[in-house]
Amino acid sequence: MTIHIPVLPQEVIDGLNPQPGSTIVDGTLGGGGHAEVILERIGATGTLFGFDRDPIAVEDTKTRISAENAHLIIANYSDMPEQLSLFDVTQVDGILLELGLSSDQLAARERGFSFHSDGPLDLRFNQMAGEPAAKLVNRLSEKHLADLIYEFGEERFSRRIARKIVKLRHANKIETAAQLANIVRPCIPRTKKKSIDPATKTFQALRIAVNEELKWLKVAVNRLPDLLAPGGRIAIISFHSLEDRIVKQALQQNDQLEILSRKPIMAGEEELMNNPRSRSAKLRVAQKKH
Ligand SMILES: C[S@@+](CC[C@H](N)C(=O)[O-])C[C@H]1O[C@@H](n2cnc3c(N)ncnc32)[C@H](O)[C@@H]1O
Repeated sequence: MTIHIPVLPQEVIDGLNPQPGSTIVDGTLGGGGHAEVILERIGATGTLFGFDRDPIAVEDTKTRISAENAHLIIANYSDMPEQLSLFDVTQVDGILLELGLSSDQLAARERGFSFHSDGPLDLRFNQMAGEPAAKLVNRLSEKHLADLIYEFGEERFSRRIARKIVKLRHANKIETAAQLANIVRPCIPRTKKKSIDPATKTFQALRIAVNEELKWLKVAVNRLPDLLAPGGRIAIISFHSLEDRIVKQALQQNDQLEILSRKPIMAGEEELMNNPRSRSAKLRVAQKKH
């Protein structure tokens, strides 16, 4: 079961332009929503590869997508060339990345992605690899925490937040997502605007750090265009400015690519009403030159 609604589904299809018989890679399979739409387009003669770092996402999606021409793989999208070579595939017609986390991951209490969760503050896409966020917030120095929250969360109040975390963790180790959110919220001045949860930027920063998200994105945007056949397309959806900046620059600076989306493509009114997550989604599309 998935509760994730894929963002910009029509725009992704228009951008990738998959044809019957095409080979397409969804580098961030998640709940498989985009993959299903792509499979419909490429038909039985096409091939879909779906990657996700999260073993739970891949195993769950396998129960719904079981077509013989769909290969679902637990792997980092930056390892796509090596993974595809195991199938003797060296060129593909389209690559999709929808960055960030899925609604299924957000809803899983025991993973601590949600601010309201009394589950452990984990925030890893793959709980078998790396260090959970709770360890990081209890271990790092005040300066290191402040820098991290500033750099990966673009949070102006990072110093104040780090000072409070370090002060409070002496008495009580920070173990749950809700505990951290309650520490962060009072550090941020109230505004009249009823907007996002004040803990959002701090959680984003920790999630980026434990998953090394920007590092893998930078590797991928440099490597993946080499996999495209002439005329092949790459479509990348980002959700915040740190990601979008990396994507925009890498696509623009790649001589093999022609940019198809002069401005980032964003959700229309109907999608914004039906899927609040689409609010910050930006899609960029490029095509490999012939
Ligand atoms: C926004 S969701 C994708 C949802 C998917 N498009 C759908 O329609 O259901 C992003 C997914 O990317 C995965 N992910 C994040 N970083 C990754 C990486 N470096 N390599 C592979 N998967 C990654 C996450 O685990 C998450 O499942």
